Amino acid sequence: MLKLTIHNFNEIISRLDEQAKAAAVTSVLESLSAGEYGFVNILGNEKQINSLKELLHTLNAFADTLIVLGIGGSDLGGRAIAQALGEKGSWDVIFAGDTTDPVSLEDVLKDVDWSKTIVNVVSKSGNTLETMTYYAICKDRAQKALGEHWNDHFVFTTDADSGILHRESQQFDIAQIPVPDNVGGRFSVLSAVGLFPALALGADAENLLAGGRSAVEQFTQSKMQSIPAQIALYQYAQLTLENRDLAVMMPYSSQLYEFARWFRQLWAESLGKDGKGIMPILSYGPADQHSQLQFYTQGKDTSTFTFLRVADHGVHVRVPSSGIPELEHLADVDMSDLINIQEEGTREALVDAGRPSVTIELPQVDALHLGEMFVTWELAVVILAKLLAVNAFDQPGVEDSKQKTLARLANLSKLKNDIY
Ligand code: PA5
Repeated sequence: MLKLTIHNFNEIISRLDEQAKAAAVTSVLESLSAGEYGFVNILGNEKQINSLKELLHTLNAFADTLIVLGIGGSDLGGRAIAQALGEKGSWDVIFAGDTTDPVSLEDVLKDVDWSKTIVNVVSKSGNTLETMTYYAICKDRAQKALGEHWNDHFVFTTDADSGILHRESQQFDIAQIPVPDNVGGRFSVLSAVGLFPALALGADAENLLAGGRSAVEQFTQSKMQSIPAQIALYQYAQLTLENRDLAVMMPYSSQLYEFARWFRQLWAESLGKDGKGIMPILSYGPADQHSQLQFYTQGKDTSTFTFLRVADHGVHVRVPSSGIPELEHLADVDMSDLINIQEEGTREALVDAGRPSVTIELPQVDALHLGEMFVTWELAVVILAKLLAVNAFDQPGVEDSKQKTLARLANLSKLKNDIY
Protein backbone atom coordinates (compact mmCIF):
# COMPACT_ATOMS: atom_id res chain seq x y z
CA MET A 1 0.00 0.00 0.00
CA LEU A 2 1.09 3.57 -0.69
CA LYS A 3 2.21 5.71 2.23
CA LEU A 4 1.28 9.39 2.28
CA THR A 5 2.99 12.11 4.32
CA ILE A 6 1.83 15.72 4.06
CA HIS A 7 3.63 18.52 5.78
CA ASN A 8 1.38 20.61 8.07
CA PHE A 9 -1.75 18.92 6.71
CA ASN A 10 -4.05 19.50 9.69
CA GLU A 11 -3.08 23.11 10.15
CA ILE A 12 -4.02 24.24 6.64
CA ILE A 13 -6.98 21.87 6.16
CA SER A 14 -8.64 23.17 9.33
CA ARG A 15 -8.86 26.56 7.63
CA LEU A 16 -11.05 25.19 4.81
CA ASP A 17 -14.81 25.39 4.95
CA GLU A 18 -16.04 22.09 6.49
CA GLN A 19 -19.09 21.83 4.26
CA ALA A 20 -17.24 22.50 1.01
CA LYS A 21 -14.65 19.82 1.86
CA ALA A 22 -17.22 17.19 2.70
CA ALA A 23 -19.50 18.06 -0.23
CA ALA A 24 -16.76 17.49 -2.83
CA VAL A 25 -15.70 14.14 -1.40
CA THR A 26 -19.29 12.99 -0.90
CA SER A 27 -20.25 13.96 -4.42
CA VAL A 28 -17.36 11.92 -5.89
CA LEU A 29 -18.28 8.96 -3.65
CA GLU A 30 -21.88 9.18 -4.88
CA SER A 31 -20.86 9.30 -8.55
CA LEU A 32 -18.56 6.38 -7.92
CA SER A 33 -21.24 4.20 -6.40
CA ALA A 34 -23.61 5.19 -9.23
CA GLY A 35 -21.04 3.76 -11.67
CA GLU A 36 -20.48 7.11 -13.39
CA TYR A 37 -16.70 6.88 -13.66
CA GLY A 38 -15.57 4.91 -16.69
CA PHE A 39 -11.97 4.84 -15.45
CA VAL A 40 -13.18 2.96 -12.34
CA ASN A 41 -15.61 0.66 -14.16
CA ILE A 42 -12.80 -0.73 -16.33
CA LEU A 43 -10.90 -2.01 -13.30
CA GLY A 44 -13.07 -5.12 -13.11
CA ASN A 45 -12.45 -5.93 -16.75
CA GLU A 46 -10.17 -8.93 -16.29
CA LYS A 47 -11.90 -10.86 -19.07
CA GLN A 48 -10.51 -8.40 -21.56
CA ILE A 49 -6.98 -9.26 -20.44
CA ASN A 50 -7.46 -12.82 -21.66
CA SER A 51 -8.62 -11.71 -25.09
CA LEU A 52 -5.70 -9.26 -25.36
CA LYS A 53 -3.32 -12.06 -24.39
CA GLU A 54 -4.82 -14.32 -27.04
CA LEU A 55 -4.46 -11.66 -29.70
CA LEU A 56 -0.82 -11.07 -28.75
CA HIS A 57 -0.18 -14.80 -28.77
CA THR A 58 -1.59 -15.12 -32.31
CA LEU A 59 0.49 -12.20 -33.52
CA ASN A 60 3.60 -13.48 -31.76
CA ALA A 61 3.54 -16.49 -34.11
CA PHE A 62 5.06 -14.29 -36.84
CA ALA A 63 5.99 -10.97 -35.19
CA ASP A 64 8.21 -9.88 -32.31
CA THR A 65 8.20 -6.07 -32.55
CA LEU A 66 5.30 -3.86 -31.49
CA ILE A 67 5.31 -0.20 -32.51
CA VAL A 68 2.78 1.74 -30.45
CA LEU A 69 1.51 4.92 -32.12
CA GLY A 70 -0.42 7.39 -29.98
CA ILE A 71 -0.23 10.79 -28.33
CA GLY A 72 -1.36 12.35 -25.05
CA GLY A 73 -3.63 10.00 -23.14
CA SER A 74 -3.14 7.39 -25.85
CA ASP A 75 0.60 7.33 -25.22
CA LEU A 76 1.76 8.52 -21.82
CA GLY A 77 0.20 5.75 -19.72
CA GLY A 78 1.78 3.03 -21.83
CA ARG A 79 5.15 4.72 -21.55
CA ALA A 80 4.74 5.01 -17.77
CA ILE A 81 4.02 1.27 -17.51
CA ALA A 82 6.93 0.40 -19.79
CA GLN A 83 9.42 2.47 -17.84
CA ALA A 84 8.22 1.38 -14.40
CA LEU A 85 7.85 -2.32 -15.06
CA GLY A 86 10.54 -2.84 -17.66
CA GLU A 87 10.65 -5.28 -20.53
CA LYS A 88 10.34 -8.94 -19.68
CA GLY A 89 8.06 -10.12 -22.50
CA SER A 90 8.69 -11.71 -25.86
CA TRP A 91 8.07 -8.43 -27.71
CA ASP A 92 10.32 -5.52 -28.45
CA VAL A 93 7.97 -2.59 -27.73
CA ILE A 94 8.65 0.84 -29.25
CA PHE A 95 6.54 3.89 -28.36
CA ALA A 96 6.32 6.40 -31.20
CA GLY A 97 3.70 8.64 -32.82
CA ASP A 98 3.82 11.46 -30.27
CA THR A 99 5.45 13.82 -32.74
CA THR A 100 5.44 14.88 -36.36
CA ASP A 101 9.21 15.39 -36.31
CA PRO A 102 10.51 13.59 -39.43
CA VAL A 103 13.90 12.93 -37.79
CA SER A 104 12.31 10.94 -35.00
CA LEU A 105 9.96 9.17 -37.43
CA GLU A 106 12.80 8.02 -39.71
CA ASP A 107 14.80 6.99 -36.70
CA VAL A 108 12.00 4.60 -35.68
CA LEU A 109 11.00 3.37 -39.14
CA LYS A 110 14.29 3.10 -41.01
CA ASP A 111 15.22 -0.39 -39.85
CA VAL A 112 11.76 -1.90 -39.42
CA ASP A 113 11.41 -5.48 -40.61
CA TRP A 114 7.75 -5.26 -41.58
CA SER A 115 7.32 -9.03 -41.75
CA LYS A 116 7.99 -9.21 -37.99
CA THR A 117 6.35 -5.96 -36.91
CA ILE A 118 2.89 -5.10 -35.59
CA VAL A 119 1.77 -1.48 -35.40
CA ASN A 120 -0.68 -0.77 -32.60
CA VAL A 121 -2.37 2.50 -33.53
CA VAL A 122 -3.96 3.98 -30.41
CA SER A 123 -6.42 6.84 -30.74
CA LYS A 124 -9.75 7.05 -28.96
CA SER A 125 -11.16 9.48 -31.53
CA GLY A 126 -9.34 7.70 -34.34
CA ASN A 127 -8.71 11.08 -35.95
CA THR A 128 -5.76 12.77 -34.22
CA LEU A 129 -3.33 14.51 -36.58
CA GLU A 130 0.00 13.21 -35.25
CA THR A 131 -1.19 9.62 -34.90
CA MET A 132 -2.99 9.59 -38.26
CA THR A 133 0.03 11.03 -40.07
CA TYR A 134 2.25 8.34 -38.61
CA TYR A 135 -0.33 5.69 -39.45
CA ALA A 136 -0.57 6.87 -43.08
CA ILE A 137 3.21 6.54 -43.42
CA CYS A 138 3.32 3.11 -41.73
CA LYS A 139 0.44 1.89 -43.88
CA ASP A 140 2.24 2.98 -47.05
CA ARG A 141 5.52 1.33 -46.01
CA ALA A 142 3.83 -1.86 -44.87
CA GLN A 143 1.89 -2.08 -48.14
CA LYS A 144 5.11 -1.67 -50.12
CA ALA A 145 6.96 -4.24 -48.02
CA LEU A 146 4.20 -6.81 -47.55
CA GLY A 147 1.74 -6.41 -50.39
CA GLU A 148 -1.87 -7.50 -49.84
CA HIS A 149 -1.33 -8.91 -46.33
CA TRP A 150 -0.20 -5.58 -44.87
CA ASN A 151 -3.39 -5.36 -42.80
CA ASP A 152 -2.38 -8.34 -40.64
CA HIS A 153 0.36 -6.14 -39.22
CA PHE A 154 -1.93 -3.52 -37.67
CA VAL A 155 -4.06 -3.48 -34.53
CA PHE A 156 -6.20 -0.44 -33.76
CA THR A 157 -7.19 0.61 -30.24
CA THR A 158 -9.99 3.06 -30.91
CA ASP A 159 -13.65 3.95 -30.57
CA ALA A 160 -15.93 1.04 -31.46
CA ASP A 161 -18.15 2.99 -33.87
CA SER A 162 -16.56 6.15 -35.22
CA GLY A 163 -13.41 7.84 -36.51
CA ILE A 164 -10.97 7.28 -39.36
CA LEU A 165 -9.34 4.31 -37.66
CA HIS A 166 -12.66 2.57 -37.17
CA ARG A 167 -13.46 3.12 -40.84
CA GLU A 168 -10.05 1.79 -41.88
CA SER A 169 -10.52 -1.29 -39.72
CA GLN A 170 -13.85 -2.04 -41.42
CA GLN A 171 -12.53 -1.41 -44.90
CA PHE A 172 -9.30 -3.39 -44.58
CA ASP A 173 -10.33 -6.00 -42.01
CA ILE A 174 -7.89 -4.81 -39.36
CA ALA A 175 -8.07 -6.08 -35.76
CA GLN A 176 -9.77 -3.52 -33.55
CA ILE A 177 -9.78 -3.26 -29.75
CA PRO A 178 -12.46 -0.87 -28.49
CA VAL A 179 -11.83 1.96 -26.02
CA PRO A 180 -14.93 2.22 -23.79
CA ASP A 181 -17.15 5.23 -24.52
CA ASN A 182 -16.94 6.91 -21.16
CA VAL A 183 -13.17 6.64 -20.64
CA GLY A 184 -11.35 9.78 -21.79
CA GLY A 185 -7.78 9.62 -23.10
CA ARG A 186 -5.94 10.71 -19.96
CA PHE A 187 -8.05 8.33 -17.84
CA SER A 188 -7.57 5.36 -20.18
CA VAL A 189 -4.25 3.88 -19.04
CA LEU A 190 -5.88 0.83 -17.42
CA SER A 191 -8.07 0.11 -20.46
CA ALA A 192 -6.74 -1.69 -23.54
CA VAL A 193 -4.92 1.57 -24.37
CA GLY A 194 -2.27 0.82 -21.75
CA LEU A 195 -2.91 -2.87 -21.14
CA PHE A 196 -2.20 -4.12 -24.67
CA PRO A 197 1.36 -2.71 -24.74
CA ALA A 198 1.72 -3.65 -21.06
CA LEU A 199 1.01 -7.29 -21.87
CA ALA A 200 3.45 -7.22 -24.77
CA LEU A 201 6.02 -5.91 -22.33
CA GLY A 202 5.35 -8.86 -20.06
CA ALA A 203 3.81 -6.68 -17.34
CA ASP A 204 1.35 -8.12 -14.85
CA ALA A 205 -1.90 -6.60 -16.17
CA GLU A 206 -4.05 -8.40 -13.58
CA ASN A 207 -2.10 -6.73 -10.80
CA LEU A 208 -2.28 -3.33 -12.49
CA LEU A 209 -6.07 -3.64 -12.27
CA ALA A 210 -5.94 -5.07 -8.74
CA GLY A 211 -3.81 -2.10 -7.65
CA GLY A 212 -6.34 0.26 -9.21
CA ARG A 213 -9.17 -1.47 -7.36
CA SER A 214 -7.32 -1.18 -4.06
CA ALA A 215 -7.04 2.61 -4.58
CA VAL A 216 -10.82 2.75 -5.08
CA GLU A 217 -11.36 0.62 -1.97
CA GLN A 218 -9.05 2.81 0.08
CA PHE A 219 -11.02 5.87 -1.06
CA THR A 220 -14.46 4.40 -0.38
CA GLN A 221 -13.43 3.11 3.04
CA SER A 222 -11.38 6.04 4.32
CA LYS A 223 -13.30 8.83 2.51
CA MET A 224 -11.98 12.19 3.75
CA GLN A 225 -8.95 10.43 5.25
CA SER A 226 -8.14 8.57 2.04
CA ILE A 227 -5.00 9.35 0.05
CA PRO A 228 -6.80 10.86 -2.98
CA ALA A 229 -9.01 13.04 -0.77
CA GLN A 230 -6.08 14.28 1.31
CA ILE A 231 -4.03 15.13 -1.79
CA ALA A 232 -6.98 16.99 -3.32
CA LEU A 233 -7.89 18.88 -0.15
CA TYR A 234 -4.29 19.89 0.49
CA GLN A 235 -3.78 21.16 -3.06
CA TYR A 236 -7.08 23.03 -2.90
CA ALA A 237 -6.16 24.60 0.43
CA GLN A 238 -2.74 25.66 -0.84
CA LEU A 239 -4.35 27.21 -3.92
CA THR A 240 -7.22 29.02 -2.29
CA LEU A 241 -5.65 30.00 1.04
CA GLU A 242 -2.01 30.55 0.05
CA ASN A 243 -2.22 31.30 -3.70
CA ARG A 244 0.04 28.40 -4.60
CA ASP A 245 -1.06 27.54 -8.12
CA LEU A 246 1.88 25.42 -9.28
CA ALA A 247 2.29 21.75 -8.38
CA VAL A 248 5.77 20.31 -8.80
CA MET A 249 6.02 16.53 -8.94
CA MET A 250 9.53 15.23 -8.29
CA PRO A 251 10.07 11.48 -8.52
CA TYR A 252 13.21 10.09 -6.88
CA SER A 253 13.14 7.01 -9.07
CA SER A 254 14.16 6.60 -12.70
CA GLN A 255 11.23 4.18 -13.00
CA LEU A 256 8.68 6.89 -12.21
CA TYR A 257 9.72 9.75 -14.47
CA GLU A 258 7.23 8.75 -17.18
CA PHE A 259 4.59 8.36 -14.47
CA ALA A 260 5.17 12.01 -13.58
CA ARG A 261 4.74 12.92 -17.29
CA TRP A 262 1.46 11.01 -17.26
CA PHE A 263 0.43 12.90 -14.09
CA ARG A 264 1.30 16.22 -15.73
CA GLN A 265 -1.20 15.64 -18.54
CA LEU A 266 -3.87 14.36 -16.16
CA TRP A 267 -3.56 17.41 -13.92
CA ALA A 268 -3.23 20.04 -16.68
CA GLU A 269 -6.07 18.88 -18.94
CA SER A 270 -8.45 17.99 -16.13
CA LEU A 271 -8.05 21.15 -14.03
CA GLY A 272 -6.83 23.95 -16.29
CA LYS A 273 -10.04 25.57 -17.50
CA ASP A 274 -12.44 28.45 -16.82
CA GLY A 275 -9.45 30.55 -15.73
CA LYS A 276 -8.79 28.09 -12.89
CA GLY A 277 -6.43 25.22 -12.14
CA ILE A 278 -3.09 24.29 -10.66
CA MET A 279 -0.29 24.04 -13.18
CA PRO A 280 1.69 20.80 -12.97
CA ILE A 281 5.48 21.00 -13.23
CA LEU A 282 7.72 18.04 -13.90
CA SER A 283 10.90 17.75 -11.91
CA TYR A 284 13.35 14.90 -11.39
CA GLY A 285 15.34 13.93 -8.35
CA PRO A 286 18.16 14.10 -7.64
CA ALA A 287 19.18 15.73 -10.97
CA ASP A 288 16.98 18.79 -10.50
CA GLN A 289 18.44 19.50 -7.06
CA HIS A 290 21.27 20.89 -9.17
CA SER A 291 18.98 22.72 -11.56
CA GLN A 292 15.68 23.79 -9.96
CA LEU A 293 16.08 23.52 -6.19
CA GLN A 294 17.49 27.01 -5.73
CA PHE A 295 14.21 28.37 -7.08
CA TYR A 296 12.14 25.90 -5.10
CA THR A 297 13.69 26.90 -1.77
CA GLN A 298 14.23 30.63 -2.24
CA GLY A 299 12.37 31.73 -5.36
CA LYS A 300 8.77 32.91 -5.64
CA ASP A 301 6.65 30.96 -3.16
CA THR A 302 3.86 29.78 -5.46
CA SER A 303 4.39 26.00 -5.62
CA THR A 304 3.63 22.83 -3.75
CA PHE A 305 6.05 19.90 -4.04
CA THR A 306 5.07 16.26 -4.39
CA PHE A 307 7.89 13.79 -3.87
CA LEU A 308 7.61 10.22 -5.12
CA ARG A 309 9.93 7.80 -3.36
CA VAL A 310 10.39 4.05 -3.34
CA ALA A 311 11.15 2.14 -0.12
CA ASP A 312 12.98 -0.66 -1.90
CA HIS A 313 14.37 0.12 -5.35
CA GLY A 314 14.95 -3.59 -5.91
CA VAL A 315 18.56 -3.21 -7.00
CA HIS A 316 21.15 -3.03 -4.24
CA VAL A 317 24.48 -1.53 -5.08
CA ARG A 318 26.79 -0.66 -2.22
CA VAL A 319 29.31 2.13 -2.62
CA PRO A 320 32.74 0.56 -2.15
CA SER A 321 35.38 1.89 0.17
CA SER A 322 37.41 3.95 -2.27
CA GLY A 323 40.41 4.81 -0.11
CA ILE A 324 39.52 8.49 -0.61
CA PRO A 325 39.19 10.03 2.90
CA GLU A 326 36.51 12.57 1.87
CA LEU A 327 34.32 9.75 0.50
CA GLU A 328 34.65 7.36 3.44
CA HIS A 329 31.21 8.35 4.79
CA LEU A 330 29.77 6.80 1.62
CA ALA A 331 31.53 3.47 2.03
CA ASP A 332 29.08 0.58 2.18
CA VAL A 333 26.06 2.84 1.70
CA ASP A 334 23.30 1.13 -0.31
CA MET A 335 22.41 3.41 -3.25
CA SER A 336 18.74 2.58 -2.71
CA ASP A 337 19.14 4.30 0.68
CA LEU A 338 21.27 7.09 -0.76
CA ILE A 339 18.62 8.28 -3.21
CA ASN A 340 15.99 8.18 -0.44
CA ILE A 341 18.24 10.17 1.90
CA GLN A 342 18.61 12.73 -0.87
CA GLU A 343 14.83 13.00 -1.15
CA GLU A 344 14.61 13.52 2.63
CA GLY A 345 17.33 16.17 2.55
CA THR A 346 15.57 18.06 -0.23
CA ARG A 347 12.24 17.83 1.55
CA GLU A 348 13.77 19.07 4.81
CA ALA A 349 15.31 22.04 2.99
CA LEU A 350 11.89 22.89 1.59
CA VAL A 351 10.18 22.50 4.97
CA ASP A 352 12.78 24.79 6.54
CA ALA A 353 12.12 27.30 3.79
CA GLY A 354 8.38 27.15 4.61
CA ARG A 355 7.46 25.41 1.35
CA PRO A 356 4.62 22.83 1.38
CA SER A 357 5.29 19.22 0.49
CA VAL A 358 3.50 15.94 -0.08
CA THR A 359 5.36 12.62 -0.14
CA ILE A 360 4.11 9.36 -1.54
CA GLU A 361 6.16 6.28 -0.85
CA LEU A 362 5.73 3.09 -2.87
CA PRO A 363 6.96 -0.05 -1.09
CA GLN A 364 8.41 -1.05 -4.47
CA VAL A 365 7.74 -0.28 -8.11
CA ASP A 366 5.58 -3.18 -9.26
CA ALA A 367 2.32 -3.63 -11.14
CA LEU A 368 0.19 -3.55 -7.99
CA HIS A 369 1.55 -0.25 -6.71
CA LEU A 370 1.68 1.33 -10.16
CA GLY A 371 -2.01 0.49 -10.67
CA GLU A 372 -2.73 1.97 -7.25
CA MET A 373 -0.82 5.13 -8.18
CA PHE A 374 -2.71 5.65 -11.45
CA VAL A 375 -6.12 5.41 -9.82
CA THR A 376 -5.13 7.34 -6.69
CA TRP A 377 -4.16 10.33 -8.84
CA GLU A 378 -7.22 9.93 -11.10
CA LEU A 379 -9.49 10.05 -8.05
CA ALA A 380 -7.51 12.96 -6.58
CA VAL A 381 -7.94 15.02 -9.75
CA VAL A 382 -11.67 14.28 -9.88
CA ILE A 383 -12.11 15.44 -6.25
CA LEU A 384 -10.01 18.51 -6.91
CA ALA A 385 -12.07 19.31 -10.01
CA LYS A 386 -15.22 19.16 -7.83
CA LEU A 387 -13.63 21.54 -5.32
CA LEU A 388 -12.68 23.92 -8.13
CA ALA A 389 -16.06 23.48 -9.84
CA VAL A 390 -14.56 22.52 -13.21
CA ASN A 391 -15.31 19.56 -15.47
CA ALA A 392 -12.43 17.07 -15.10
CA PHE A 393 -13.37 15.18 -18.23
CA ASP A 394 -13.28 17.72 -21.06
CA GLN A 395 -10.48 19.70 -22.72
CA PRO A 396 -12.08 22.53 -24.72
CA GLY A 397 -8.88 24.56 -24.69
CA VAL A 398 -7.09 21.98 -26.81
CA GLU A 399 -9.66 22.44 -29.59
CA ASP A 400 -8.56 25.98 -30.45
CA SER A 401 -5.03 24.89 -31.32
CA LYS A 402 -6.39 21.92 -33.25
CA GLN A 403 -8.64 24.18 -35.33
CA LYS A 404 -5.86 26.66 -36.03
CA THR A 405 -3.50 23.89 -37.15
CA LEU A 406 -6.26 22.44 -39.28
CA ALA A 407 -6.84 25.82 -40.96
CA ARG A 408 -3.13 25.99 -41.82
CA LEU A 409 -3.27 22.49 -43.26
CA ALA A 410 -6.35 23.17 -45.35
CA ASN A 411 -4.25 23.71 -48.48
CA LEU A 412 -2.41 20.43 -48.16
CA SER A 413 -4.28 17.93 -50.27
CA LYS A 414 -2.87 14.86 -48.52
CA LEU A 415 -4.66 15.59 -45.26
CA LYS A 416 -8.40 15.34 -45.27
CA ASN A 417 -10.70 17.68 -43.42
CA ASP A 418 -11.87 15.04 -41.02
CA ILE A 419 -8.47 14.81 -39.35
CA TYR A 420 -8.98 15.71 -35.69
O1 PA5 B 1 -6.82 13.18 -22.61
C1 PA5 B 1 -7.18 13.39 -23.74
O2 PA5 B 1 -8.37 13.26 -24.07
C2 PA5 B 1 -6.21 13.81 -24.84
O3 PA5 B 1 -4.95 14.07 -24.36
C3 PA5 B 1 -6.08 12.68 -25.86
O4 PA5 B 1 -5.61 11.52 -25.23
C4 PA5 B 1 -5.14 13.05 -27.01
O5 PA5 B 1 -5.55 14.27 -27.60
C5 PA5 B 1 -5.16 11.95 -28.06
O6 PA5 B 1 -6.46 11.75 -28.52
P1 PA5 B 1 -6.88 10.44 -29.25
O7 PA5 B 1 -6.75 9.31 -28.31
O8 PA5 B 1 -8.29 10.67 -29.68
O9 PA5 B 1 -5.95 10.28 -30.43
